[in-house]
Amino acid sequence: MKRLSKIGGAVLHRLPPEIAHETALKALRYGLIWPQDQADLPILKQKCLGLQFPNPIGLAAGFDKNGAAVSSLLSQGFGSIEIGTVTPLPQTGNPKPRLFRLSEDKAIINRLGFNNLGVSEIARNLAHARPYAGIVGANIGPNRDSDDPLNDYRKCFTLLAPLVDYLVVNISSPNTPGLRAWQDKDSLNRLISTLLDRRAGLSNARGGSIPLLIKIAPDLSDRSRRHIASTALALKLDGLLISNTTVSRPKYLRSKHKSETGGLSGKPVFRTSTAILADMYRRVNGEVPLIGIGGVGSGEDAYTKLRAGASLIQFYTALVFDGPSIVPNIKSDLAAFLSADGFDNVSSAVGLDSSKY
Ligand SMILES: Cc1cc2nc3c(=O)[nH]c(=O)nc-3n(C[C@H](O)[C@H](O)[C@H](O)COP(=O)(O)O)c2cc1C
Repeated sequence: MKRLSKIGGAVLHRLPPEIAHETALKALRYGLIWPQDQADLPILKQKCLGLQFPNPIGLAAGFDKNGAAVSSLLSQGFGSIEIGTVTPLPQTGNPKPRLFRLSEDKAIINRLGFNNLGVSEIARNLAHARPYAGIVGANIGPNRDSDDPLNDYRKCFTLLAPLVDYLVVNISSPNTPGLRAWQDKDSLNRLISTLLDRRAGLSNARGGSIPLLIKIAPDLSDRSRRHIASTALALKLDGLLISNTTVSRPKYLRSKHKSETGGLSGKPVFRTSTAILADMYRRVNGEVPLIGIGGVGSGEDAYTKLRAGASLIQFYTALVFDGPSIVPNIKSDLAAFLSADGFDNVSSAVGLDSSKY
């Protein structure tokens, strides 16, 4: 079976990236990719955001934008998956080509621009996928041409809250003009307060209060990070996702696509996103759960993110390069790193290295 999935991976890499992605999603959806049958080790189980995570390794937003393959993705061993970004109305996104593999750099540049089926269709997909065999979050954003982005967030929040376990407000994608301005102090306050008000009358898929998190960029100034940390503490935000893709381009990139416009993800983002994670852990005094994202491709990377301050981990780009067998590998290596350092659970390691960055 491993051999088959290697052959499948090699075929996918010969296809243009977006077609390869659609093919992989279809293969997952129609059960052509074998589920992982390894049970999660007790050392990896953890309560976070008021939810019981079978393991801390999650699939980041953007892979299953429409919630089309939730069950099959969870069966690959992820403890959680985040669907979206979902917008109120369907939208096609930016003109193609808009997705580039930077194979030599183990990275991707994308400028997809929130292509998705819209919240109503996606809500139907989620309703079919329930009950979930793991944790499912939804990542929400406004339509590109919206006159009232705040209302777009509100609409997606209201419709998706009862269908998922947690909600993420995306204010950090570089591919929707104006979106990242929501990270500014006053706008952020207004956005979060509006959604927290809305939350009062809603419960999530498990009947509890719906955790509300925000996903931030790795390109934020010191001042913005200070404001975000103080807002998170003042408004009692449930968590921060750190980070989205970067608009910066490290000088050492080698691939021919390195100068394409869009967000860079994968290995080159690891260092910066981990440093920002540690910085935010210190700023919120470890009081707000953090989800570490950016360049994770091994159990060691996941462990580094935990020690920098993440309670949970997500990744995307390494799945494209290494295929689904990476999920059990990351989990077993992470468990080994924890045990070797004498821990019998994930949370004991969280933030231990946060002062080293
Ligand atoms: C093709 C692609 C599409 C993405 N789409 C979204 C998205 O819709 N919403 C979002 O919040 N993040 C999106 N992301 C960002 C990822 O969720 C993640 O934050 C980022 O890629 C860093 O993680 P990685 O290095 O493991 O890929 C996307 C990333 C990629 C590569």
